[in-house]
Amino acid sequence: MKLVIREVAPCDVQAMASLHAASWRSAYRGIISDAFLDADLCANRAAFWAQRLGPGAKDSFGFLAMRGEEAVGFAFAFPNADQSWGTLLDNLHVLPRHKGQGIGRALLAAVAQRCSQAVPAEGAHLWVYEVNLAAQQFYASLGGQRGERRMVEVRGGGRAAEWRFAWPSAAALLAQVGRAPT
Ligand SMILES: CC(C)(COP(=O)(O)OP(=O)(O)OC[C@H]1O[C@@H](n2cnc3c(N)ncnc32)[C@H](O)[C@@H]1OP(=O)(O)O)[C@@H](O)C(=O)NCCC(=O)NCCS
Repeated sequence: MKLVIREVAPCDVQAMASLHAASWRSAYRGIISDAFLDADLCANRAAFWAQRLGPGAKDSFGFLAMRGEEAVGFAFAFPNADQSWGTLLDNLHVLPRHKGQGIGRALLAAVAQRCSQAVPAEGAHLWVYEVNLAAQQFYASLGGQRGERRMVEVRGGGRAAEWRFAWPSAAALLAQVGRAPT
């Protein structure tokens, strides 16, 4: 089925929440505690997305990847997030059974296209858990440069190391990922 990338809207709270929960349960086991992952994670993520997509939300935008009626991935970003590093990509997730089909790349392309129009002079960056080697390889394969390491509090308790990955400009990111499908 054709992949369609469309902008996230306030009515997408539940779709974003269930995607986010499914991806965390698959990719973040061992990083986030089982107790937190196996509790009512969908409700937790729904509250998170209701706030992010609600009135008064910070300057931000996101894209959903759709296969037919099914939401299979999303990306969310904050332009002007950092004076030095530019747009913050926070989050990028693809449903486990849809990984490796170019959906992550297509979502990044949509973000890069938007940034190259809205904030062309800005770079782009994100943070990825140190133990999430698959995602680090994904970003490295798309030209992301690994920067500094930091320790952060993890939702549900504990601490973990993460690394910054960055691109010098939206144009540099766009050149790596290509254009988003329409
Ligand atoms: C990381 C993630 C977003 C990548 O999305 P995806 O749809 O699986 O990746 P794509 O199919 O678009 O891959 C794009 C390119 O990255 C490369 N790539 C993807 N996963 C990779 C991996 N594990 N190792 C090495 N390269 C990888 C692919 O080879 C591909 O290159 P190609 O198009 O030249 O073949 C997705 O796997 C995911 O949701 N993971 C779990 C959540 C997560 O870790 N999110 C990141 C949080 S910081």
